[in-house]
Amino acid sequence: MPLETESTLRIRSIIKDFKPNNGDLLAALYAVQHEMGYLSKEALAVIADQFKMFTAEVYGMASFYEEYRFDPPAKTTIRWCSGPACRTRNSAGIRDAILATLDLNETGEQTEDGQCSVVVGQCNGTCELAPMIWVEEHKTYELPVGKLTAAKSIKLARGLRSGSGIGEILNG
Ligand code: FES
Repeated sequence: MPLETESTLRIRSIIKDFKPNNGDLLAALYAVQHEMGYLSKEALAVIADQFKMFTAEVYGMASFYEEYRFDPPAKTTIRWCSGPACRTRNSAGIRDAILATLDLNETGEQTEDGQCSVVVGQCNGTCELAPMIWVEEHKTYELPVGKLTAAKSIKLARGLRSGSGIGEILNG
């Protein structure tokens, strides 16, 4: 059992209503990630304790799903739409311009300073905005930004990396 700290107590309170052996494990993982931003080793150990499992088993289950993160998220996540309507409007060029501006090699990476990451997103039906991205700040907002050009993408990525707010960048 992990040593009790302020953080383990917080995790215990998030999952207190989830019971072992009733299929609640994925919901508990989601609840902890939603509150804490990611699943730390400590969180996995607390969840394992509650579900009467080994930490490695809990990690094995969670790592099967792309939705779960095991490292702290970047301050801002740029979710790039990989859907077909965006692709026909040069979304690959938009993605490459953003990655190059942030000095990243591929999606899934985050900047060394933890300021920005770029991940792949799926079409959610707002194709009239193609090509588009969503700008997400952990638990604060998720803003779609569409009809992108390479120049607009570069301006956006530069601004987000320097810590500017999305409204400030778009209106500046
Ligand atoms: S394909 Fe990008 S929003 Fe639909």
